Amino acid sequence: MRALIAGCGYLGTAVGSLLVKAGHEVIGLRRTEDASDELLRVGIIPALGDLTDIRSLESLSGKFDWVVNTVSSSRGGADVYRAVYLEGTQTMLEWLRGHPLKRYVYTSSTSVYGQTDGSTVDEDSDAQPATETGAILRATEDLLIQAANEGIPTTILRVSGIYGPERGHLFRQFVNGEARISGEGHRWMNMVHRDDVATAILAALEKGQSGRIYNCTDDVAVTQLEFLRWLSQQFNRPLPPSATEEAATRKKRGVTHKQVSNLRLKRELDWNPAFPSYREGYADDVNRICKGLGRTSA
Ligand SMILES: NC(=O)c1ccc[n+]([C@@H]2O[C@H](COP(=O)([O-])OP(=O)(O)OC[C@H]3O[C@@H](n4cnc5c(N)ncnc54)[C@H](OP(=O)(O)O)[C@@H]3O)[C@@H](O)[C@H]2O)c1
Repeated sequence: MRALIAGCGYLGTAVGSLLVKAGHEVIGLRRTEDASDELLRVGIIPALGDLTDIRSLESLSGKFDWVVNTVSSSRGGADVYRAVYLEGTQTMLEWLRGHPLKRYVYTSSTSVYGQTDGSTVDEDSDAQPATETGAILRATEDLLIQAANEGIPTTILRVSGIYGPERGHLFRQFVNGEARISGEGHRWMNMVHRDDVATAILAALEKGQSGRIYNCTDDVAVTQLEFLRWLSQQFNRPLPPSATEEAATRKKRGVTHKQVSNLRLKRELDWNPAFPSYREGYADDVNRICKGLGRTSA
């Protein structure tokens, strides 16, 4: 297959590398040249361009069988979300109408589930986002479902918090002594290792259904407190202090509390995470950091 990874960053590079190893030809699109050497090292052909600009897409040569959209807002706010996800997807779809393909996969987010009651959510659960940015991702999904109804084979993955080499916000905060427990620490967190998202994308490209949504998260949601307790044991350090009330209130906006189910992805696409939980996923990082500190992990 010939594949385009639009927005070929942290996740996109891992996907591209997996596709290259499976024998596919992969082109990785991004706006800057910064990572071109990194892409070339894993066999991805770098292409410079902006997916929100149809001229960039038209200038890509040849036909693509698969397109994966892993563009991100690069930590921007609602305006950037709208430009990159919603308008970017509109542009991609406009381009695809003249370039038929076998599968388009988009990485949405589990932030589209606004539940705050700790319940388990699957793809049939209400997806009413709690934030403006979540609502933009949801509107982007709607565009893609509509496109599927019009014959463009789009598939959506709702991905939870991605961690992996050099990523994992709370983990890094803990290591740097900056982590804080929010409230009682009882909020559920849903996470997935980057390499497992890559295999889920490959499964969606090969076997995903058009217009279908699949949650992509590991096998265990974990409360913030349980995760921090585990880190405390691993590093033999005390639990971090609680957040100040002011910081907790600031963080509370848009904070959800839910356990995301991955059963559809497992049952329908035969996906199984190599890192079923944070324990396996962070094991290497923990060992490496402990080794640097001159001791073995718990
Ligand atoms: N990180 C998470 O926890 C998480 C959770 C759920 C879902 N997701 C989704 O997973 C996907 C991948 O996330 P990631 O962490 O891999 O993001 P990332 O590392 O920021 O990569 C995104 C890439 O997109 C490129 N890009 C940005 N705007 C572009 C544009 N207009 N045209 C072309 N390329 C553009 C960026 O490179 P240039 O700046 O060089 O263009 C960057 O390399 C995103 O769709 C994100 O919404 C992430």
